[in-house]
Amino acid sequence: MSKHQKDKMVPLPSDAIIPERDIDSMPVLECRHLGIEFGGLKAVDDLNFTIGKTEIAGLIGPNGAGKTTVFNLLTKVYTPTTGTILLNGVDTSGKNTVQINKMGIARTFQNIRLFSSLSVEDNVKIGLHNHERYSTASGILRLPSYWKKEKAAHERALELLSLFDMQDMADYKAGSLPYGAQRRLEIVRALATDPRLLLLDEPAAGMNPAETEELMENIVKIRDTFHIAVLLIEHDMNLVMGICEGICVLNFGKIIAKGTPEEIQANPAVIEAYLGNKKEDKDA
Ligand SMILES: Nc1ncnc2c1ncn2[C@@H]1O[C@H](COP(=O)(O)OP(=O)(O)OP(=O)(O)O)[C@@H](O)[C@H]1O
Ligand SMILES: [Mg+2]
Repeated sequence: MSKHQKDKMVPLPSDAIIPERDIDSMPVLECRHLGIEFGGLKAVDDLNFTIGKTEIAGLIGPNGAGKTTVFNLLTKVYTPTTGTILLNGVDTSGKNTVQINKMGIARTFQNIRLFSSLSVEDNVKIGLHNHERYSTASGILRLPSYWKKEKAAHERALELLSLFDMQDMADYKAGSLPYGAQRRLEIVRALATDPRLLLLDEPAAGMNPAETEELMENIVKIRDTFHIAVLLIEHDMNLVMGICEGICVLNFGKIIAKGTPEEIQANPAVIEAYLGNKKEDKDA
């Protein structure tokens, strides 16, 4: 097994591949014929993909390929025009964004979205509160049960922050943190909602190589600690090829390739549509 603990990928009857260790578990996500049109433009067109229960999966492709739109479909920011999304085998049609979060999908955004004037701890607690049921009466009346839950939330928030070694920043204003730390805080807040599938939209954007390396280790640590799946969108190919087990490549809203990092890197259609251009970008 490599430094980043990948497993062998095995085929499923549905023309998908998942890590061998997940073969006896329900896939966390299955998309069938997923699509959306915006005024005639098929931004996402007939997507079929499956993610294993503890897989780290990648979604890559050129700018405007439809990657973020896939996340918006999975989280019901947009309602799909076609297709089905199964989360742990349960059809998510008719669910809204909040219900999807409670069903087990949490995400971060391409552009950081934190409550910048609130403390780091309070940002994490917002995730915890989204997940837990607080009785309004016990909150307003400040009953003992409220304080007990508050104490538990405080402890849980610090525990989650300590995953990224951020527990000493709990009282800082979120907006005052350096950029890389804000990105980490967004991930912690998403984790606070206790997801089974974590969606990360360009988590390494704007990070230096050392921060990116640390992020890669943290993503693997998250998967190993929580036994959840991660689907990430990234343009940093070192990160994608370094930790993703299965990769989907989108171009003009369609999947043009699916496979392991080795298969994707050797795929002529992917090199033509995406990887070839990226290399030129770097050489320029
Ligand atoms: N709400 C919307 N209305 C109209 N068009 C949209 C909408 N959302 C996305 N699109 C279009 O869908 C296409 C895919 O956009 P998307 O943001 O998903 O790309 P992306 O792959 O995430 O790109 P990038 O790598 O630049 O983030 C683009 O042509 C975009 O303009
Ligand atoms: Mg995007």
